[in-house]
Amino acid sequence: MALSAEEIQNATGVWSKIFADAESNGSVVLSRMFKEYPHTVKYFKNFPELQSVGETASAAEIAGLAEVQGHAKTVFTAFNDMVQHLENIDALKETATPLAKKHSEELKVDVKDFKILCDNLVDLVGEKQDEDAKSTFKKAVDVIYENIKAAY
Ligand code: HEM
Repeated sequence: MALSAEEIQNATGVWSKIFADAESNGSVVLSRMFKEYPHTVKYFKNFPELQSVGETASAAEIAGLAEVQGHAKTVFTAFNDMVQHLENIDALKETATPLAKKHSEELKVDVKDFKILCDNLVDLVGEKQDEDAKSTFKKAVDVIYENIKAAY
């Protein structure tokens, strides 16, 4: 589904406020995924702190781990690259494809887990902003997710 220029502009505006606090917002989104879907912790073999406390710690404690905060920045920066390419689907595909290949072929992440993370991100936008922002942003996330899924 293609977005109109206005929808892209609105979604980009919503995202820029969330991206401004990438470390903190990204950590919240990741930590909720780890708590609600514990199988997702297992992918992160290189994160020893997460591996040792992932099952027992609260989402807030997990969000405070340096490993998770660092990774939050990495994920949000990559997500930002895709948001910046929403107006050019070919460029979006070019950005999404290596990311999808890395996660599917190397990291063996199930594409359904991307949906979980995307849904968490949309929910966070609803909490931090409002329902309008959430529905505007969801349209953009759907386009990004579809492009990742197509490249998987
Ligand atoms: C929009 C969603 C996502 C984005 C933008 C994203 C982005 C990234 C980026 C940029 C990297 C670093 C890649 C590199 O080093 O070349 C990475 C690594 C990784 N991602 Fe994702 N990712 C997403 C979703 C997920 C999901 C859903 C999972 C699993 C539940 C996941 C698991 C991992 C793992 C295990 C690594 C390797 C971490 C490490 O050992 O340093 N990612 N991700």
